[in-house]
Amino acid sequence: MVETDEKQTPVDTATRDAQVEEIARRLGVRAERGRRFAELTSLRVGGVIDWLLVPESEEEAAATVGALEDAGIAWRVLGAGSNVLADDREHRYVVVSMREVKGGARFEGERVSVSAGFSLPRLCVEAARQGLSGIEGLGGIPGTVGGALWMNAGAYGHEIGQVVESVRVARGGRVVEVPGSEVSWDYRHTSFKEGELLLGCTLKLTPDDAEKIKARMDEAKQKRFATQPHGARSAGCFFKNPPGSGFSTGKMIDEMGLKGERRGGALVSPVHANFIVTEGEEAKAADALALAEEIRERFRREHGIELEYEVELWGADEEFKDEGSEEGEGETGKG
Ligand code: EPU
Repeated sequence: MVETDEKQTPVDTATRDAQVEEIARRLGVRAERGRRFAELTSLRVGGVIDWLLVPESEEEAAATVGALEDAGIAWRVLGAGSNVLADDREHRYVVVSMREVKGGARFEGERVSVSAGFSLPRLCVEAARQGLSGIEGLGGIPGTVGGALWMNAGAYGHEIGQVVESVRVARGGRVVEVPGSEVSWDYRHTSFKEGELLLGCTLKLTPDDAEKIKARMDEAKQKRFATQPHGARSAGCFFKNPPGSGFSTGKMIDEMGLKGERRGGALVSPVHANFIVTEGEEAKAADALALAEEIRERFRREHGIELEYEVELWGADEEFKDEGSEEGEGETGKG
């Protein structure tokens, strides 16, 4: 089941393992081996993670990736894992989990400062309670603040980028503050680069009546509840809507009659056709990917449109640090 990475000799692996161990020990960061993406992502599929590092503060997270970079060790960052499809093979880079970098949301006037691992739905609830408006549309998105910043999460008229005053980013092992105005906040895409770790942010919100904010948040949640699958193993919308077209990819896949279409343990959600959900113990990342590629192929044929992935595809042997993709899946979906 596990493929060996041809580029790494056993000596390389042993040296790297010793280096990762030393970094974790020196920085006092929890290190776990043998975890699986199937346990750490909402699609509940995906292979073994060689090393999982779990820092507990923004400073610790910055120092961790700084040390990994100094040692030339490839890493990737995972938040709630609610927008990631990792393939079934053994992933030999270090995964830095931001889940424990959460602390509490710190409110001051119209501003709130929060760390990357903090839950986005929880932040929306707390902001509403404080009488602060601007993110209530995002209330039902099951991710971390870091993940939301990374891809400029949006729903029901709100996008997180619209209210970001500054973002804290890891640079050279330290926490550096970047003004939100220096970041491009596009549709499900930002100018942050692979290799850049987002640690937290300060949002500037708008005072409003707490009850009204809560009512808008509840309305968005109800809409989501009525039109999107809940409780299912999904990664949200799988594809972006075609840019500038005003079309809904979900509606178009639905009209193509693909709701319920299945490949192994993956199927097009019968509730919203832009959701691929997985079912059963035997479900594989390969099932979801095969189904997604089948949809893209049909979409190309019937509409002449090349669907772009909205979820991130993580290949075990992808040269992600160089933005390259040599073979296999090719598409990285980060575009
Ligand atoms: N529709 C169908 N069949 C379907 C799905 C949708 O007919 O299977 C129809 C709906 O009835 C509606 C229209 O298509 O008339 C648009 O649907 P929806 O309101 O669900 O919007 P969407 O464009 O499919 C986008 C985002 C969602 C976000 C909602 C609400 C993308 C790719 N999707 O969906 O984001 O929650 O708007 O703002 O931009 C996500 O990012 O993961 C995500 C789910």
